Amino acid sequence: MPAGGEGQMKDRIDQTILKTILATVDEAIHVVDTEGFTVYYSPAAARLDGLGSNEVIGRHILQVYPSLSRETSTLLLVLRTRQPILDQQQTYVTRRGTAIHCINTTVPIWDGEELVGALEVSRDITPVKELSETISHLREELYPARAPEKSLVPRRPRITFGDMVGRDPKLAAVKEAATRAAGTTLPVFVHGETGTGKELLVQAIHNASARRNGPFLAQNCSALPEALLEGIFFGTTRGGFTGATDRPGLFELASGGTLYLDELNSMPPALQSKLLRVVESGEVRRLGDLKVRAVDVRLIASSSLAAARAIAEGQLRDDLYYRLSAVNLGLPPLRERKGDVPLLVEHFLKQGNARLGLAVRGCTPRAMDVLLRHDWPGNVRELANAIEGAMALSGEPVIDLDHLPVAVRGPGPIAVPLGPAVIAGPPGQAITAPLDVAVAAYERHLIEAAMNEAGGNVSRAAASLGLPRTTLQYKLQVLGFASPRRKAQ
Ligand SMILES: Nc1ncnc2c1ncn2[C@@H]1O[C@H](COP(=O)(O)OP(=O)(O)OP(=O)(O)O)[C@@H](O)[C@H]1O
Ligand SMILES: [Mg+2]
Repeated sequence: MPAGGEGQMKDRIDQTILKTILATVDEAIHVVDTEGFTVYYSPAAARLDGLGSNEVIGRHILQVYPSLSRETSTLLLVLRTRQPILDQQQTYVTRRGTAIHCINTTVPIWDGEELVGALEVSRDITPVKELSETISHLREELYPARAPEKSLVPRRPRITFGDMVGRDPKLAAVKEAATRAAGTTLPVFVHGETGTGKELLVQAIHNASARRNGPFLAQNCSALPEALLEGIFFGTTRGGFTGATDRPGLFELASGGTLYLDELNSMPPALQSKLLRVVESGEVRRLGDLKVRAVDVRLIASSSLAAARAIAEGQLRDDLYYRLSAVNLGLPPLRERKGDVPLLVEHFLKQGNARLGLAVRGCTPRAMDVLLRHDWPGNVRELANAIEGAMALSGEPVIDLDHLPVAVRGPGPIAVPLGPAVIAGPPGQAITAPLDVAVAAYERHLIEAAMNEAGGNVSRAAASLGLPRTTLQYKLQVLGFASPRRKAQ
């Protein structure tokens, strides 16, 4: 085949691929020429707007979207400025009268040095936006900006430090530091893996502070796209570029109270610097507004990623972090305070009994043994869910192994059959033996594994097995393990 033929074939294939991509992607794609007349309009765009491509191709952008103007159309703006606009929120009304909220990225199209048009990729966020508006409305009803004390909505019982179950010294130290912080208006930064009780601690701080009768508002910074977060935090003004309504942001709504910025490291960096400006100036300006309003908010932020790592990975601005971390509190993961597991189990049993109308009294020793050995990657939340699930499953006054989630009890053998017991020995081997021998072998296997994992440290192995150190030491002797030497002092 001559070279030209090959080239044509390649072009055809490229075009077919391109067409397939354009027809398949969920994002709407709209291309205009340098005058603003549509030259390409993807099937997803037609679905979004509820228009046929024959109604759009060849028409001017302002004819297709009468609610837009030369100033507000991002495509026309890009043609004028020749600069791309990234992740811009836009609201427009289609010719059928439907309001569409989307996030657009709009770029000029160059053929060498020559501008030949502009392309816009739009992601429909109408459902997310509606949800966020509902949340904002509900918040306004709950916390009317001017008279929070007049709210008629019955409040749920206040969370206090007493609701944070646990006697572990690490937890006790955090609670003590948090109690001291509650007596000040300093910003607080809370670290802790998922489910360690960050939100519980933050609420307890608010309720122990002088602001306890003011509003407490929490916003997860990873939940919504940047364009919406900005309006939610700082408020919006009617008729602004975003097509939004007049609404106070969280800073205004939380005035006189506490604002909890959950997962701060998920907030886009540009918004983090706006946040820093608000924190430093004590003033906020609603989006599209010229007026500045003073705000009086106590800020508490949290991150489930260690701050140093979040900063190193560019997720958290260091200037904002230093500003917000006058007090630093780190909640320990549950695996580092396993001694609290029985207390927490009792707490969740009591809670579950009251809520589900049950009378579950406790766990069998072997179920407790498993609860003490589990690593709890989901921390207290995982334990709470495991207990609640087990209570619902058990239908009996006690929780046994079978009622616990597989993730907790592991896929290992649970039911020991009658007769010669079959148990799992060291990986891959099955041991068939009478029950007492099998149990002893299994115990030996678990102890060996725990000792290996703890690098021979008896105290640590005992903690991970949920046994007192002396009991483990005794078992080690009985099982004929060489007694571990004390380190020379
Ligand atoms: N010390 C505790 N005592 C009793 N309940 C606790 C304790 N810590 C956490 N919980 C419970 O565990 C669940 C998770 O807690 P919380 O929502 O505060 O965690 P979190 O650290 O904010 O988690 P995430 O990072 O996933 O948002 C909640 O139901 C909370 O009530
Ligand atoms: Mg949380």
